[in-house]
Amino acid sequence: MTSTAQASRTGAGTAHPDHLGHVIFIAAAAAMGGFLFGYDSSVINGAVEAIRDRYDIGSAALAQVIAIALIGCAVGAATAGRIADRLGRIRVMQIAAVLFVVSAVGSALPFALWDFALWRVIGGFAIGMASVIGPAYIAEVAPPAYRGRLGSFQQAAIVVGIAISQLVNWGLLNAAGGDQRGKLMGLEAWQVMLGVMVVPALLYGLLSFAIPESPRFLISVGKRERAREILAEVEGQGTDLDARVTEIEQAMKSEHKSSFKDLLGGGFFFKPIVWVGIGLSVFQQFVGINVAFYYSSTLWQSVGVDPTDSFFYSFTTSIINIVGTVIAMIFVDRIGRKPLALIGSIGMAVGLALEAWAFSFHLVDGKLPSTQGWVALIAAHVFVLFFALSWGVVVWVMLGEMFPNRIRAAALGVAAAAQWIANWAITASFPSLADWNLSGTYVIYTVFAALSIPFVLKFVKETKGKALEEMG
Ligand code: GLC
Repeated sequence: MTSTAQASRTGAGTAHPDHLGHVIFIAAAAAMGGFLFGYDSSVINGAVEAIRDRYDIGSAALAQVIAIALIGCAVGAATAGRIADRLGRIRVMQIAAVLFVVSAVGSALPFALWDFALWRVIGGFAIGMASVIGPAYIAEVAPPAYRGRLGSFQQAAIVVGIAISQLVNWGLLNAAGGDQRGKLMGLEAWQVMLGVMVVPALLYGLLSFAIPESPRFLISVGKRERAREILAEVEGQGTDLDARVTEIEQAMKSEHKSSFKDLLGGGFFFKPIVWVGIGLSVFQQFVGINVAFYYSSTLWQSVGVDPTDSFFYSFTTSIINIVGTVIAMIFVDRIGRKPLALIGSIGMAVGLALEAWAFSFHLVDGKLPSTQGWVALIAAHVFVLFFALSWGVVVWVMLGEMFPNRIRAAALGVAAAAQWIANWAITASFPSLADWNLSGTYVIYTVFAALSIPFVLKFVKETKGKALEEMG
């Protein structure tokens, strides 16, 4: 019998509405890690100038201090899978929460530049862990029919985290008289921006005590009874619980805890499925999405938009990002992951190509000609909208569910680490690429958006509605 047939016989995937409410709470609590991911990775924008001024450093050193946190993210992502397989999914959330608190306090009250960088690396480590554990845990507790939608809570939390950090930065900056080093509550504004993160971090830690361990992890460590109780909690008494436990157990039978070694094989170092995960991650970053979030003000100012308007456009892009994410949440379980990704790739390629076209014009009095200026602005929003309704959600959902149980945590760790490295490569190269040729830079991103189409068609398998036991 196939696992789908078995899954429908055992009732998996059709949680009773009462249980659905509970599962939504569980997924939302786990997705707090995504909120911290979004908040922490973009809050730094509001503090950059203050750091430069306080420590009197040049652009290159400043870029290093900022980018180093992304390396912490890659290491955190690569490590989280192993910890999750040894100590459990919930423990990883708790460790990440503690690190978020430590990093928020430390980076808000640094002694010098070196320890500021250290606190940011520790925060990066926590972001990396949260980026892995949210999707893996949600995929493991969600009933298959709702897995895409519940999995997209992670991305929804990330985009809300990005938008809120911009809002908080803007609010604090205004309160401090427009100066990042202006005084607020005895501290400088940028210190408050970083320190505020203590609140969601504590909440994340507390919520982790209110949600159950993943039944798949419990089965893997022989805690069958506890797994059965949790399955009853999330899938309902209507499910044939013994059959579900046996089904998961059987799928894991010949399996052992995942380690890096289990990811190898197939002639090209990693197993093909791991490469597909890495490919999804790299394409998600190589379309240049984080240029839109980390550098938007600089980008608009470089083509003549004044600073206040450029802040406003950063904010409108993050609102469009939220709107696109909601659209994806509606469709991810209906039309599936692959069609969404393909629609997104086409839309992103068009938006990016139009930006490349608009930026190819010479500036007149430091500004793009009016038509090209409008095209660039609209195209940037079109690009973000199509990213959000597709690759933003689809990649995190798929990374949580596409790997077999045996290698899920470790494979997701490798794919997420690849994503942080790709993010770092784009973020670190943008300033020099833009100095070389802004239009050419956007041509490169357009090419990656276009190449993602054959990649999805050829290598990505649809995961919509399948039981996790069927992946691989
Ligand atoms: C995805 C990406 C992340 C990006 C975000 C923007 O989560 O992984 O790098 O910042 O989308 O919405």
